[in-house]
This record gives sequence, C-alpha cells and structure tokens, in this order.
Amino acid sequence: MKELSPQQIQENWEKLRSLINETFAGERLDDLNKMYDYFEERMMLAPASGKEHFHNAHPGGYVEHVLHITDLVVQIYDLWGKNGATIDDFDKEELIFAALHHDLGKVGDLSEDYYTPNDSDWHRKNQGLIYKHNGKLQFMTVTDRAIWLLQHFGIQMSENEYLGLRLTDGMYEEANKSYYISYSKDRQLKTNIAYILHQADMMASKIENDEWARGDHDIKVEKEEEVKKKSQQSAAANQAFKDLFGE
Ligand SMILES: [Fe+2]
Repeated sequence: MKELSPQQIQENWEKLRSLINETFAGERLDDLNKMYDYFEERMMLAPASGKEHFHNAHPGGYVEHVLHITDLVVQIYDLWGKNGATIDDFDKEELIFAALHHDLGKVGDLSEDYYTPNDSDWHRKNQGLIYKHNGKLQFMTVTDRAIWLLQHFGIQMSENEYLGLRLTDGMYEEANKSYYISYSKDRQLKTNIAYILHQADMMASKIENDEWARGDHDIKVEKEEEVKKKSQQSAAANQAFKDLFGE
C-alpha cells in the first residue's frame, strides 16, 4: 500500500496553502484561510477514497489528489484553448477554485471525518477496504457537502465556479445527467469549465490508480532500502579497511 512520509504530508500541505495564498486575494482569501486553518489537522491526513483500488486511499491522499487535479486542470485548459475551444468566459482562478474544492466533502463535516480507518484487518488485506464511511455523518453527496462547507465559512463563489465544482464528477454522478445531456439548445452548458474539470479529475484519479496498480510506491521504497543497505555495506567495508591498514 502507498504510504506518504510525515515530511511528504507536511510538504504537500504547505504546497496547498501556498497555492491558495498565491491564487486568491482579499476577503475571499481570508475566508478560505479560515476554513483551511479549521480543517488543517484533519484535511492533511484525509484519504481521497476508501478503497485502495479506487485512488489514493492513504493518509494524505486527499491533499495529494487535490494538488494533482489542480496541476492537470491548468494543462488541460491550455490544451483546449490551443485547439480552438472557447475558454475566455472563465479564468484560471475560477478553474483552480473549483478544482481545489470539488472533493471538499471528503473531509467530513465540522466535527467528524468522512472516512474512518477500517477496523477489520481481513477487509483491509483481502478486499482493499482501507477506510469505511463514517456512519455518524448526515448523508450528503460529496459535492453537496463541499458546497455546504464553503457557504458555512462564508466563501463566495462565481456561477462558473459553482457549475465547475458541481459537475466535476461528470456522468459518474447520476444527478449530473440533466446538465450534461440536454436536448434543448437553451439548456446546453454555456461554458466548458465543467468538461475541463471532469477531464482533469478523471485523469488524476486514473493516474493515481495506475501508480497503485504498478506498485510504484513499493518499488521506490525497495530501491531506497537497497541504496541504504549498499551505503551501509560500503561504510562497513571502509571501516574494516581502516581498521586493518589504518587511515
Ligand atoms: Fe476528485
């Protein structure tokens, strides 16, 4: 299973807070910082999903996923623009705001985490069910909870941001059908922000799943251990040489 070191979790958290400070300004930045201060400890350690075969089901996985989609969404926005799509009806701040908060509901409510560690070792090992949904929470979709939390902290959002964040899950969310499938001209989405966010989210989640399936993390840890072992061996050999022949 993938595991982030405490330093990596801390670094990702700092990256996230810097991105927020660089992207937003004024009253909205103050309100955002209040929310991020409030959730600091819980958000830093939250996973992005409960099942290891989904994506980033490890402590710190939520922040890692949010940084991942934020990076990809800007690349995809540029790609759409370069290829002739209309992207001037929204800006990068709106795009980043929606990307940063599309999964906010996964942090939980004001007092309870959304995911709790699975206490069944059998389910963790045999079915990859690393976390369970916390039964103490009111039922809400992740997106509804994201919007509820943002309004709780008085964080304003534009119509584009609302649509982008609301529709990031694309057609994987049944409730999004009426937005994406429209047979009437007037009801068609009038902005591409949702399509771009959905592509970025899909890409980020799929890459995270691929990394897990290939065991990238385990391979990296094995290599690091091998390097450590080799350097310990050569230090021991150097010491033996010095003991035998002097400095
Ligand atoms: Fe996501």
